[in-house]
Amino acid sequence: MIDQTVLPETEDYLYFDSYLDVADSITTMKVRGAPAIGVTAALGLALAASKSDASTTEDAITELREAAIVLGATRPTAVNLFWAISRMMSMAEANNEKSLPEFRAILIEEAVRIQEEDVDRNESLSEFGASLIEDGDNVLTHCNAGALACAGCGTAVGVITAAWEQGKKIHVYVDETRPRLQGAKLTAWELKRAGVPMTLITDSMAGHFMQQGKVQKVVVGADRIAANGDVANKIGTYSVAVLAQAHNIPFYVAAPTSTIDLNIVDGSHIPIEERAEDEVTIVGKTRLAPLDIQVANPAFDVTPNRLVAAIVTETGVAHAPYLETLAAAVGDRNSANDIDRS
Ligand code: MRU
Repeated sequence: MIDQTVLPETEDYLYFDSYLDVADSITTMKVRGAPAIGVTAALGLALAASKSDASTTEDAITELREAAIVLGATRPTAVNLFWAISRMMSMAEANNEKSLPEFRAILIEEAVRIQEEDVDRNESLSEFGASLIEDGDNVLTHCNAGALACAGCGTAVGVITAAWEQGKKIHVYVDETRPRLQGAKLTAWELKRAGVPMTLITDSMAGHFMQQGKVQKVVVGADRIAANGDVANKIGTYSVAVLAQAHNIPFYVAAPTSTIDLNIVDGSHIPIEERAEDEVTIVGKTRLAPLDIQVANPAFDVTPNRLVAAIVTETGVAHAPYLETLAAAVGDRNSANDIDRS
């Protein structure tokens, strides 16, 4: 994988032969972004099965359960992580009668399938989302929901680049995204490579540009979407959504259905990761704040569904009431309200 902690200065690729190192790469955010950490955990479990020195399939499953616990303890908010681990473990348990070589091959195939499906989901949701972007739009995005955060072309950035590739003359405002600067370091890097016109701004400038009429759409990704459409995403997303509502700007969320958690009724049940204080107090090698002060660093916030104009998934565009339309998006045909699949 590409090491996202050293971009944009250095393009460095990491290789792993232990699932413990894979888990560490998620915790330390060498890989980050909800779909990407799901795919990484799946590949980590395939690696654990391949490298295990168990002599029976039963012993390999026991080791895999331990690996699932370690990988599942890396980051709490993005549900894609748990979705991918649970899918891998179901595949493992369902094949407990197979020979060890067959068992290992099945897990590798499943992890690669999870990766390939994410590529397809990115592509499909980007096409659906691009239909919401009009020629001449200035689109604001927060954090990084691009190829780095996924297995394919990305979610919010996928929507933006798909609109650009359709020939729409758009421009992007990229929030720098304090404290870890995923916007400045990663989204700006991706959009520059894609040739999409953009302007990097600090998070606190978003309201100013909206007030000046310079933002027509907001598109962000998500780490977990509750059944009612409340959206957990990078800290600062909620502020952007409130600002968008105040200025009558549609606020769109783009995410694969693997980010939708129908087991959680609303956003109040989404666990919010609290990260180290030095992410806030130190930038690069420079300490910004005095030692021994109280610091908060929640990595995500929750945007209530009433601020979300639409949720774009690979199956279509969902509008409120999300309790109905998200169930339809993930394939529950009993939903009274369907999604826009055109
Ligand atoms: O802490 P991060 O960088 O993993 O947070 C990432 C985000 O919040 C993204 O917007 C989200 O995962 C969607 S990525 C397609």
